[in-house]
Formats: sequence, structure tokens, C-alpha cells
Amino acid sequence: MLGFFLVVATMARVAAPVEGARAFFVFGDSLVDNGNNNYLITTARADSPPYGIDYPTHRPTGRFSNGYNIPDIISQELGAESTMAYLNPELSGEKLLVGANFASAGIGILNDTGVQFANIIRIWRQLEFFQDYQTRVSAVIGDEEQTKALVNKALVLITLGGNDFVNNYFLTPITLRRLQFNLQDFSKFLISEYKKVLQRLYDLGARRVLVTGTGPLGCVPSSLATRSTNGQCAEEPQRASAIYNPLLEQMISGLNQQLGSSVFVAVNTMNMQNDFISNPQAFGFITSKVACCGQGPYNGVGVCTPASNLCPNRDLYAFWDPFHPTEKANRIIVQTIFTGSDKYMSPMNLSTIMELDI
Ligand SMILES: *[C@@H]1O[C@H](CO)[C@@H](O)[C@H](O)[C@H]1NC(C)=O
Ligand SMILES: *[C@@H]1O[C@H](CO)[C@@H](O)[C@H](O)[C@H]1NC(C)=O
Repeated sequence: MLGFFLVVATMARVAAPVEGARAFFVFGDSLVDNGNNNYLITTARADSPPYGIDYPTHRPTGRFSNGYNIPDIISQELGAESTMAYLNPELSGEKLLVGANFASAGIGILNDTGVQFANIIRIWRQLEFFQDYQTRVSAVIGDEEQTKALVNKALVLITLGGNDFVNNYFLTPITLRRLQFNLQDFSKFLISEYKKVLQRLYDLGARRVLVTGTGPLGCVPSSLATRSTNGQCAEEPQRASAIYNPLLEQMISGLNQQLGSSVFVAVNTMNMQNDFISNPQAFGFITSKVACCGQGPYNGVGVCTPASNLCPNRDLYAFWDPFHPTEKANRIIVQTIFTGSDKYMSPMNLSTIMELDI
């Protein structure tokens, strides 16, 4: 029996389509988009300075960061190159085996989230692209079974949900969704729609999926500037995160039970960000309230543009622009994804996953 298992293990290694690194796939919104929106006619874009000011090229890339974003840093920790934006024409041939990033700034769980950005890749379209991707990989490696193995063994990250509040429910004082639902019922509706997305991801072959919740939506510089009177985190968006995140963790745990396996891993980004928001100095930040790039109170009004205020040292700020963390804050988040306790990662952290999934 032992001999049999050894043989199987050896064969599996030989049949693996890529040496060493496992593939990595990314789905979601601007927190994880690494340039897809550069190829779209939309206002949700990060392709002008000072975005990318601390990226190795010091040029904008489409990432909503001063430098690297969360998927880049996860790739680095895994010893892999960054996944390329799926719409980048250079993503072809062997490069496909590294994985792909399907994320698109502005999107949400719901199809009607981010309508004001016009032409963005909504989540169901991202999943269609994932299917197209698999067809393209099979053409490169000449074998559907190997493509299936590559996808089954891959790590997946999905970051969605914040925009369903910011760019839908809370977008204007009166919105269709607000007339339709109170916060509790809207969150339940989001979770039931999100469950369908995750089930589809599973059907497409994903077997290890990091699912992030929303950050503390009332504490981002944009909320402080527009919804808070005294510099405290804004009440209503905070309530949204407090309701939504536990429901997400419950749904994920139920889905895993249904599947009989810990396919989905809940990443509690709210607890992660609350740490540096409540005690920025402990993480080397001078502030977690003022964005590095922006204008108005807390640099939280509008968006970051070439005409905005810009801080000289991005590492001292938790927030890069009115909505998105700096590379430094992203590094803290990824560190916690790898080594965090069950306060942050459930049912397990990424270090444990890496040990299990050899
Ligand atoms: C969202 O769009 C997808 C694909 O276009 C569709 O299958 C799905 O039913 C839509 N969801 C809702 C809630 O309308
Ligand atoms: C990861 O999670 C496990 C289980 O909660 C914990 O024991 C461990 O300390 C965490 N960190 C690392 C680096 O594995």
C-alpha cells in the first residue's frame, strides 16, 4: 500500500504542468485589480501619476496603490512573479501557467454595482474569462487534464463587496437598494448572491480560495471626509461592515461543510485594518486617517490625481488614496494572511494552507 501511494505521489509530480510554483488567480475589485481597467473605457482607473510612484518603474500600472498591491505581495511571498492582468496582450503562452488576474476596479457582487463606471468587468464576466483562460491553457499544454490539475492546485484570491456598499447602497443619499432593503437585509442579499459566485468558482475548478471581507468602511479617509463630523469612523458604513463580515464568515463555513472540505478561507480584513487604524503608531504610521494622496479634509475628497496633495513618504501612511491602503499597509495585511490567528483567518492561515497543499 505504501509503495502504491509513493508511486502515485511521484507520478503527480511528474505530471504537474509547472515546475515549483503553484498558479495564482485573482478576482475582484480595485483592491486587487493590477491593470485590467487600463484596457477599458471607464473612469475607474489608476493609470496616471502619482499612482505607481513607488513601483519599481515609478510609473502608474493600473494598481490602486503607490506600489505593489495585495496580490503582488502574495505572489512575492510564494516566490512567484506577479500574475498579469488578464486583458494584458502580453499574457500568453507559458506566462499563462503563472495564473491570471481578472479583477476590475469598480465592480461588486451585484451586477448593478459600479454602473457609473460604465465599462468594467463584472464578476460573472470575470468567471467567464476564467473559463476562456482554461481553454487557452489547454492549447498551450495540450491536455485538459493538466489544465484541470493546474486549476485545482492553484491558490485563488477573491476580493469583493466593499463597492456594493460604497458604489451602490451608500452612493447617494437615496438609492434604489436603500429603498428596497435595510442594511441587515441588504447584507443578507449580498451574501446569497456571493454564495452563487463562490459556487461557480468551485465548479470552474477552484479548490483553495481566500475570500476577503470588507474593511472598516466608515474609517477610510473618504468616509471621514464626507460622512463623519468629528473625525470618528462614520457610523452607518461601520455598521454595514459589522453586519456583513460575520454573515460572510458564516456563509463560507456553511459552504465548506456542504463541500466537505475547507475550500474557502475567510480573510477578516476588517480586523486586520482595525489594528492599524486604532493604533497606527504601532505599525510605523504617523496617521491612519489622512490619505497620502487626495484633497480636502483627510485628503479624502474625490480621487487621487496629478493635482492632489501628495505626502513625501508613503510608508508613513496607512491609506494611499481616499479608499485604498498603501503598499506598506498591504504588506501588513498579507503578513497577517500568512501567519494570522483565527481572529483574522478562518479556518486557517496561508502558512498552514501551504503546508497542507504540498
Ligand atoms: C448578473 O449577471 C449574470 C450574468 O450576466 C446573471 O447570470 C445573473 O443572474 C445576474 N444576477 C442578478 C442578481 O441579476
Ligand atoms: C497559523 O495558524 C495556526 C493555526 O491557527 C497557528 O498555530 C500558527 O501560529 C499560525 N501561524 C503560522 C506562521 O503558521
